[in-house]
Amino acid sequence: MRHPLKYADWSWREYAAAARCILTGRVRNGPNPDRLATRLAALYASSTVYPVNFGHTAIRLALDVFRAIEPARTEVVVPAYICPSVVETIAAAGLTAVPAAVGSDLNLLPSAVQAALTPATLAVIAPHMFGCPARIGEIESACRAAGVFLVDDAAQVVGERCDNRLLGTFGDVGVVSFAQSKAVVTGVRGSGGVLVVNNRDLDTLLRTAWAALPAPRGRLAAFAHFVWNYQWARFTGNSGYYLRRIGETLGRPDPAPPGPGRIANLDAAIALAQLARLPRIRERKVKAARDYQAALARIPGVGVPQFADGRYLSRIMLSLPPDTHLDMLREELKRRGIASRLGYQEPVRAGQPDDPALARARRLLGLPFGGAMATSDIEEICGALRSALAAAQTDPVERKQNEPYQTAH
Ligand SMILES: Cc1ncc(COP(=O)(O)O)c(C=O)c1O
Repeated sequence: MRHPLKYADWSWREYAAAARCILTGRVRNGPNPDRLATRLAALYASSTVYPVNFGHTAIRLALDVFRAIEPARTEVVVPAYICPSVVETIAAAGLTAVPAAVGSDLNLLPSAVQAALTPATLAVIAPHMFGCPARIGEIESACRAAGVFLVDDAAQVVGERCDNRLLGTFGDVGVVSFAQSKAVVTGVRGSGGVLVVNNRDLDTLLRTAWAALPAPRGRLAAFAHFVWNYQWARFTGNSGYYLRRIGETLGRPDPAPPGPGRIANLDAAIALAQLARLPRIRERKVKAARDYQAALARIPGVGVPQFADGRYLSRIMLSLPPDTHLDMLREELKRRGIASRLGYQEPVRAGQPDDPALARARRLLGLPFGGAMATSDIEEICGALRSALAAAQTDPVERKQNEPYQTAH
């Protein structure tokens, strides 16, 4: 693949930090989680920070504490378009996710949050989709007025601001994830995250819950998996698949997803290296997003709903002309050496009618995006996209046949 997806912007510093932990035998435990907490405490200065192994570990700790305070409330309002692991975490906590409408940027609409609040609402979880800030100040005011907890889900951003306040510091708690394609990346599946406690009244309970979490196991294998199958996939191809098959044949099944835990020493070391480079990574990603916007402006019907000049984005997700056959487009791109990915496919269901924003959201297409991309790479990708799109427009006759039958009134 000439242009693979990019999951992390790592330099030799991240690899060196990891190598130091591995060579000194300090993968699971060591000094880095405390160093990371100190570094993050300086960033989120008005809050208290607790490094964890997943973004959704932070959400789970928060929901359990909210529930202990308000046991009669069982609903959690989320955007109808959201990372499925958030919805799974709500269900695992014995609570019900209630979807609220999103705008064209796929972020919660404050008016929809307001409409979704009931006496049963325990909390609202408000993410900033693909890095684009939600109208979090308005959502915070609505939650405060209704006496509902707010999770400022800054999983995809670190150091970004809205109304001159850091994302993650609105509401009662904030959440950050260090998984692939986020602002700070330490790996996949349980490589790290942060619980940011903004409401001081909750701090003792959350600190106690966090202190009871174990340090995670299996992080060396997880690191090798990330490096081999994500970072170096261009060179290692799909050999990860064959390695897994060999493992299965030898009777070693895939490990179950890791449970809640603190961050490992190895992952914290990589997070520190990423944080040291974050301003540079950010600057390059802002430029890459700008290059994409300029190149895409030449392709009719294609846009990046989350783009604004100077804004950090965690991914480039395209909205496409309505007559695009998505699978065909991805196939055409692949033939031209360009990897792509879909957005979240399963919106939160609660019997609500499918709104147009969600229908569009299901057809988003992610392209390779990272700070190390040259303007010429992005122009080449967009040139190939243009010709792939022409090959992947559905035939008008076929489209007509697929349209729902309209009855006359
Ligand atoms: C908005 C949002 N919230 C929470 C999460 C969960 O983070 P993690 O994968 O670290 O549990 C994600 C992960 O993609 C996310 O995008």
